[in-house]
Amino acid sequence: MIASTVLFTAALAGFSVASPINVARDLKAYKTDVTIHESCNTTQRRMLEKALSDTWEVATFAQEYVYTNGPEDPVFQKYFGTEKGAYSTVLGVWESFLTSNKEGVLLRCDNIDGNCGQVGWRGHWRGDNATLETVICDASYTDRFYNEYFCMNGYTVAGSPLGTHWSIDLIHRMFHVPTVTNELVGHYSEDYASALELAEHNSTYSPMDSDALQAFAALAKGGDSCIGTAPEADHSHDTATSTSAAAASSSTAASASPAATSATAAAAAAPAASSDANAGKDCHTHANGGKCIL
Ligand SMILES: *[C@@H]1O[C@H](CO)[C@@H](O)[C@H](O)[C@H]1NC(C)=O
Ligand SMILES: *[C@@H]1O[C@H](CO)[C@@H](O)[C@H](O)[C@H]1NC(C)=O
Ligand SMILES: *[C@@H]1O[C@H](CO)[C@@H](O)[C@H](O)[C@H]1NC(C)=O
Repeated sequence: MIASTVLFTAALAGFSVASPINVARDLKAYKTDVTIHESCNTTQRRMLEKALSDTWEVATFAQEYVYTNGPEDPVFQKYFGTEKGAYSTVLGVWESFLTSNKEGVLLRCDNIDGNCGQVGWRGHWRGDNATLETVICDASYTDRFYNEYFCMNGYTVAGSPLGTHWSIDLIHRMFHVPTVTNELVGHYSEDYASALELAEHNSTYSPMDSDALQAFAALAKGGDSCIGTAPEADHSHDTATSTSAAAASSSTAASASPAATSATAAAAAAPAASSDANAGKDCHTHANGGKCIL
């Protein structure tokens, strides 16, 4: 009797020692939405709110497309290849894009780094100046389109700049913010054509490739109706230099979007881009802090 009481007490004591396991852990403050800074005026705020809502809409559909249609889907494989890990990686990218804690993630309108004056700059990630912050320059408000405009005015997913629409542009900009995908997403291709090439021939990095993810999201949203055809991709690797230069210029020429001309101007205006082998093709100069100036 005594012995069993002792055992019972010991069991209770043991239970009480273990019980904190059942106590919920503290969660950090969690923010679902990107903050729009006070430097944005009423008009800019209204436009950015719509742009962000477009962004979540596109990302949500991209994720739904992936989990519904699965890794055997031809569109999925076209952008992300056929490696085993692609499915869960791409699903995870959209999941973290949508649900990562947006505490401190900010869009601002005050040109605080003084970069908006440069020709063609529509915005930039603040890099080391403030890793959570993105500046949206005035030029963004005049020629970015909302989701309703997908497939209008000659736009094609393959032939127009990926950032033609606010939603795809902001997906790109948010990929640069380290907390959004824990820096998983990066630039492993240079444009639409090279993203497809990567998926076809060397797809290890395709699920984390910013351009592949952007193009896939644009296609999922815009549908097959305006996929278009990519400017001549540089299939011939032995003449890589001249072919990629041709692809770059035809990509600009083929696009009817006003963004294309400024993109070229912007790339030309970016000091670091000119030292890059891909100057003129892309706005990224990650070596000097990962600006995106398109
Ligand atoms: C907001 O700022 C933009 C760009 O500077 C300007 O064109 C617009 O008139 C401003 N809107 C308001 C309501 O102040
Ligand atoms: C950081 O701020 C300086 C000016 O203070 C600016 O020259 C530089 O371009 C900024 N960096 C980025 C990535 O915008
Ligand atoms: C595949 O892509 C990676 C990352 O871009 C690169 O380092 C590697 O050399 C490529 N492999 C082949 C066979 O092209």
